[in-house]
Amino acid sequence: MTLLRLTVKKKSSEAGKGALNNKISTELFKLLEANGIPTHFVKMLDDNHMLHTKVDVILIEVIVRNIATGSLSRNLGIEDGTVLPFTLVEFDYKNDALGDPKLNDQHCLILELVEYQDELDKLRRMARQINDILKPYFAQKGLNLVDFKLEFGKDNNGNIILIDEISPDNCRFWDIESGEKMDKDRFRQGLGGLTVAYEQVLNRILGK
Ligand code: C5P
Repeated sequence: MTLLRLTVKKKSSEAGKGALNNKISTELFKLLEANGIPTHFVKMLDDNHMLHTKVDVILIEVIVRNIATGSLSRNLGIEDGTVLPFTLVEFDYKNDALGDPKLNDQHCLILELVEYQDELDKLRRMARQINDILKPYFAQKGLNLVDFKLEFGKDNNGNIILIDEISPDNCRFWDIESGEKMDKDRFRQGLGGLTVAYEQVLNRILGK
């Protein structure tokens, strides 16, 4: 098994955010592994580094949505905050130069992002399983899991496994009581208090 060291991204670099994301990701990967989801996670090395298995990255960002907001509301005019009648799973092309456009299954196959339709079905199935684990988990902690982005890769044996990180940088969390945003939207929307919100998410995960 080839192992790699991942530096957890610090995109909207507030001091300490990378370490918070690393700790949050570690807890969530452990939770998912314990519930039967294969991931690239091996162990947390230090504050900003995680050891993970080497994979071939699938260039599809899998977006899972329980509540309409963000680009879904902007693109389709669904009122912000609308609880969706069922969990929506979307595919975006992981391609910064093209601005991560939406993909349908035929696009994925034409672009050879995967080999077979079965693999797209598997990505959707795994995304829903992950949502079925994370949504009630966060609800218990007083957080609505609004939407999130997942990435997947293929390991040495060709198995599809969850990769990247799961943190408030790629999930939206709204406090169930106050509706307060506890994720990267605080940065995107200039609300301030980003690190404090990430700390609160970690503390709730740790039951503090
Ligand atoms: O912006 P949009 O509403 O499409 O985002 C949906 C979800 O996917 C959000 O939780 C956002 O943080 C995440 N996302 C991401 N990276 C991207 C696009 C979206 O983490 N490149």
